[in-house]
Amino acid sequence: MVGVIEEYFKANEARGVGAETSGRRPDAAAGLDAADYKALARRLGRTRLRQRLNTQIDHAAGDAHQDAILLGLSRLLDIDVLADRAVRLLGIHRWGYRNFLDLHLVERPLRHPRLPKALSGLRILQLSDLHLDLDPALGHVLRRRLSGVDYDLGVITGDFRNTTDADHDPSVAETMALLGALRHPVYAVLGNHDFIEIVPPLERAGLRFLLNEVVTVRHNGAVLYLGGVDDPNFYRTHDLAAVREAIPDDGFSLLLCHSPETYREAAGYGFDIMLSGHTHGGQICLPGGYALARVCDAPRPMQAGPWQYRGLVGYTSVGTGSCGVPLRFFCPPEITLHRLEQG
Ligand SMILES: [Fe+2]
Repeated sequence: MVGVIEEYFKANEARGVGAETSGRRPDAAAGLDAADYKALARRLGRTRLRQRLNTQIDHAAGDAHQDAILLGLSRLLDIDVLADRAVRLLGIHRWGYRNFLDLHLVERPLRHPRLPKALSGLRILQLSDLHLDLDPALGHVLRRRLSGVDYDLGVITGDFRNTTDADHDPSVAETMALLGALRHPVYAVLGNHDFIEIVPPLERAGLRFLLNEVVTVRHNGAVLYLGGVDDPNFYRTHDLAAVREAIPDDGFSLLLCHSPETYREAAGYGFDIMLSGHTHGGQICLPGGYALARVCDAPRPMQAGPWQYRGLVGYTSVGTGSCGVPLRFFCPPEITLHRLEQG
């Protein structure tokens, strides 16, 4: 393990970690030492941390790309630049930006027949795909929108940063400000845009990450087993089996997983509920919310909103923030307030 940490430090040094002028530094790594990585290895597992760090090196170098599928052109064109130019040309940029900041509060029942009666009524606030460094207005608008929203438990389903290779520090600072406006406890999983270095500073600020881990949430004397896996999309360091093993056979489980593409595995392992994000619901859609682009292999019904697969009840948030460009069309950003119910 020490070997991979040393290699990682060397790769970071070669890219100028800590140099203010470098746009490619794996940022928060500058503030972590070998002991921090060993602590993360104990939680995530040594092999999975190795896989994550090596993939992070690729991302920091800009060698890995979002696997967006848009008419097969994503490898040839910068989709964000293309979208921005097209929207300006059409004269609808201001409209799209207003939509980006128009956060909708989606209040909905989350029903499951196996839900213990005592857990009925538990309210879970879900934020997803914050990408808080995309636009300076978003953090303020989000904090204001959250005031007066009442819930028992908060969850964040990954993607704190806008791009996969920029400095993490601005999004970490914005997330810390957000944590001051949230009712705790708040649990989170990492997304494909997140380096693992954000975990120690954000945990010190009160956010608890689930790195293939499980915690118990008690409500009216009953227990909800809340599990969370690492990112299955870029890093593929998710370990659903380890999470399921830590939950009693008859325990009622809710899984946080950044991308819904693991729906089949999660159902197979017998999870009861899965909350995800990642897709942004397409973000720039045709009227009716038909997504022009998709970023993971989950079937279209699992790309946005409620869905079910066998015994697994799922919900995919279309995202609280936006990715790439601060624009949305026919796909408003959301703050989701789930209320658990039996049925
Ligand atoms: Fe994502």
